[in-house]
Amino acid sequence: MLKIKKVTFVKSIMNWRDGPRPKLPEVAFVGRSNVGKSSLINTLINMKNLARTSKRPGKTRTLNFFSVNEMFYLVDLPGYGFAKTSKKEQLAWQEAIEGYLLGSEHLRILYVLIDCKVGVKNNDVQLVEWLRFKSVPFQIIATKIDRISKSARAMQAIKIVKMLELADKSDIIFFSAKTRVGKGALWGDISRRVK
Ligand code: GTP
Ligand code: MG
Repeated sequence: MLKIKKVTFVKSIMNWRDGPRPKLPEVAFVGRSNVGKSSLINTLINMKNLARTSKRPGKTRTLNFFSVNEMFYLVDLPGYGFAKTSKKEQLAWQEAIEGYLLGSEHLRILYVLIDCKVGVKNNDVQLVEWLRFKSVPFQIIATKIDRISKSARAMQAIKIVKMLELADKSDIIFFSAKTRVGKGALWGDISRRVK
């Protein structure tokens, strides 16, 4: 497993062109608001709240870059699908995220998070379709697995595979920021991608 020596918050941006320097490989996290993107990043880097989290959806509103060992960046993206956000703001985020996903030449993998309890929603399906259409490499992570039973998890896995048209449930990384299940598997995946 990759040894974390130094993690720093680098930059918060809206336009991908303002991304940090030096240019390094990037891995990004996207998903519905409140799915657990920021919590997952904190768990990965053993920090309590370096990536700001909140019980209320709509916490992360910019593209936030965290440097790991000055080797690569973790990128926390704003969540989508939060009804209380104004249309204007939603559109601004969508533009910022799409611009980043299409513009960044350093993005190695986009992790798409699905809340195990909430399941796949329409906007998740749309996102995944768009990612395939644009050839953006992605990997699905099912989050908050501490919140459901083993049997419910198995059922949810089948649903996710079907709705997102994955090949198999081995295409899903199961993760919990609470119990840290999946942390090793995810670090393994990240290490391979940023090499
Ligand atoms: P936005 O920034 O609003 O898009 O949300 P986010 O996806 O970054 O979610 P965030 O990490 O802020 O987490 C939202 C809520 O879910 C917080 O109350 C977290 O404590 C909770 N949460 C996140 N991950 C887990 C998990 O693995 N298990 C449980 N039980 N709760 C979690
Ligand atoms: Mg967040």
